[in-house]
Amino acid sequence: MALELCQCERESDLYVPRPTRVTRVKPQTTLETMITLQFLDGADLGHRPGQFVQVFIPAIGEAPISICSAPNPENTFDLCVRKLGDVTSAIHRLQGGEVIGIRGPFGNGFDMEALQGHDLLIVGGGIGLVPLRGVIQYVAQHREDYGEVTILYGFKTPAEQLFRDELDSWVTEGQMDLRLTVDRPHPDWSGHVGVITTLFPDLKLNPQRTKALVVGPPIMYQFVITECRLKGLADDNIILSLERRMRCGVGKCGHCQINNKYVCMDGPVFTFSEVKHMWEAI
Ligand SMILES: Cc1cc2nc3c(=O)[nH]c(=O)nc-3n(C[C@H](O)[C@H](O)[C@H](O)COP(=O)(O)OP(=O)(O)OC[C@H]3O[C@@H](n4cnc5c(N)ncnc54)[C@H](O)[C@@H]3O)c2cc1C
Ligand code: FES
Repeated sequence: MALELCQCERESDLYVPRPTRVTRVKPQTTLETMITLQFLDGADLGHRPGQFVQVFIPAIGEAPISICSAPNPENTFDLCVRKLGDVTSAIHRLQGGEVIGIRGPFGNGFDMEALQGHDLLIVGGGIGLVPLRGVIQYVAQHREDYGEVTILYGFKTPAEQLFRDELDSWVTEGQMDLRLTVDRPHPDWSGHVGVITTLFPDLKLNPQRTKALVVGPPIMYQFVITECRLKGLADDNIILSLERRMRCGVGKCGHCQINNKYVCMDGPVFTFSEVKHMWEAI
């Protein structure tokens, strides 16, 4: 795939994709694949967990995709992509070795320094686990900076489970409490059954110490927020990542606007306190 892209650093370059090599392709499910990327110049992406990039596939188009890894010494980063339309299908056709374009990182991401010293409740529904994987990796790298970490991960069927070869290491090396659930009973599943909120009654949380990080399908948010509040978490301590249709990713086109917020710039990560007054519009 031939690609001529600029590597300079002017303001206008926010719109210019940087040439980036696909160094690895790792299918996850029939619908999701993970690609590992590295800029041709070897530079660090310089991101926070929870930020996103715009992925440019020459002759096809561009799509916003969450970064699903923590910064690492190799200066690589992972994206996990669900096949939907033109751009995401083109990403699924990548085999490794190709050069594609990346703009970003964009958005605010999770403030990992502000979360230090807190217990974390990480709640991922379906593909919502993707941006949270970067958080989980970051916490595992800086484990002594954080308190107890509980991960709730819900998916519809066992076949839709992401990152299955990593989950054990989150528990052992990351010293995290991982609880999985599938929506409905399934012959291939002997674990917990029920929507993600059914994992809440057994949770023992210290509401003063705990910050909840929640990412999932829109329908999940209101129920998970209700459960977090029932556990005594203040709205400031419930942190959400919102997904919105995006074009520019840099606060210019207005595509992602909700009231006075640009999700691409002011978010996608917000506390519930910040967005609850405009929840109807979300
Ligand atoms: C901040 C952000 C982070 C994202 N992170 C990821 C990620 O990590 N992994 C991932 O797989 N996807 C992610 N998405 C969604 C992804 O951007 C879209 O799936 C992608 O743009 C679709 O492009 P396409 O050309 O393949 O499909 P299109 O041809 O553009 O669309 C195909 C179908 O998907 C629908 N669609 C397009 N975009 C969205 C959207 N944002 N939400 C719901 N439906 C949509 C369209 O209406 C259409 O029906 C993210 C979106 C945002 C805004
Ligand atoms: S995507 Fe253009 S303003 Fe947010």
